[in-house]
Amino acid sequence: MRRPQVVRDAGLPERVTIYEVGPRDGLQNESTVVPVETKAAFIRRLVDAGLPVVEATSFVHPTWVPQLADAAELLDLLGEEGRAMPVLVPNERGLDRALEKGVQHIAIFGSATETFAQRNLNRSLDEQFAMFEPTVRRAREAGMDVRAYVSMCFGDPWEGDVPVDQVVAVGKRLFDLGASQLSLGDTIGVGTPGHVHALLGAFNDAGLANEHLAMHFHDTYGQALSNTQAALRAGVTTFDASTGGLGGCPYAESATGNLATEDLVWMLDGLGIETGVDLEKLVSTSVWMAEQLGRPSPSRVVTALAGR
Ligand code: HMG
Ligand code: MG
Repeated sequence: MRRPQVVRDAGLPERVTIYEVGPRDGLQNESTVVPVETKAAFIRRLVDAGLPVVEATSFVHPTWVPQLADAAELLDLLGEEGRAMPVLVPNERGLDRALEKGVQHIAIFGSATETFAQRNLNRSLDEQFAMFEPTVRRAREAGMDVRAYVSMCFGDPWEGDVPVDQVVAVGKRLFDLGASQLSLGDTIGVGTPGHVHALLGAFNDAGLANEHLAMHFHDTYGQALSNTQAALRAGVTTFDASTGGLGGCPYAESATGNLATEDLVWMLDGLGIETGVDLEKLVSTSVWMAEQLGRPSPSRVVTALAGR
């Protein structure tokens, strides 16, 4: 299989952690329910391809996201390995369900905007913190690790531009609940590199170091890799991506797929940045998953490599 020629860029980190969200962010938007056995096989293949972190599913309300209503069953199928994988949890009810399965890592997900908080969480911007506070407190008491997402960091489909200060205020508040990492989501993929640079600088100024920050890009406007490069240059070393570029958000209409993990790995391989991920195994997983879903992967790298 073709590989990029490796040319190091001394200004960039030597190692990056890829946080794979395909089974969760990727599948949550699929209208046809994927069989739970297929989800488990997908996750096992991702682990086998060397992905260090795979977000498995969500313990959200099953009528809000029917595709992930099988979260408990999926964790049963994954066994010990599944318990080490992060899952999305919005509230105490979700936490109880995760605790029952022995989950060790959860991710809460807040919104930087009022409208998306209402649409995604059925809470106002302020009310979301009241929902997350006891969830995180109890999770930490149970010895869990907590990641916090912030959505709509670069723009919102209903509110338009989102001020950097507003994103930092929400992100800081979520992080201070007791998270170990804050993932900054460009939910609808509208961000551009200067904006990434400015947002990261503002978070650093507010006391959040790069080691606590992750970037979560969607590729709606084709900006995800440029934005990744801007964040790499700023010193961020954790990036969310979805194998095959699957995904979107069911409560944000203009959100399309996440940055494809293969596109990210191709760029990082070319830059000589270590990820531990085997691109060939990843591409064959995407080809297999595309067969399960009945349509080709939108990833450029999968498209370029799959036929070779
Ligand atoms: P609600 O309807 O306000 O819930 O939904 P409630 O607290 O009023 O409870 C109502 C009933 O639901 C109760 O049952 C609860 O027990 C039950 P009843 O007493 O009436 O029989 N319930 C639950 N059942 C199972 N699991 C639960 C749960 N919670 C309550 N967890 C809620 C509020 C937050 C639950 C709902 O709005 C929800 O599930 N939202 C999730 C939406 C979602 O998953 N969106 C996609 C993920 S976010 C994303 O993709 C963005 C991200 O990728 C980053 C980026 O790109 O920006 C992370
Ligand atoms: Mg997302």
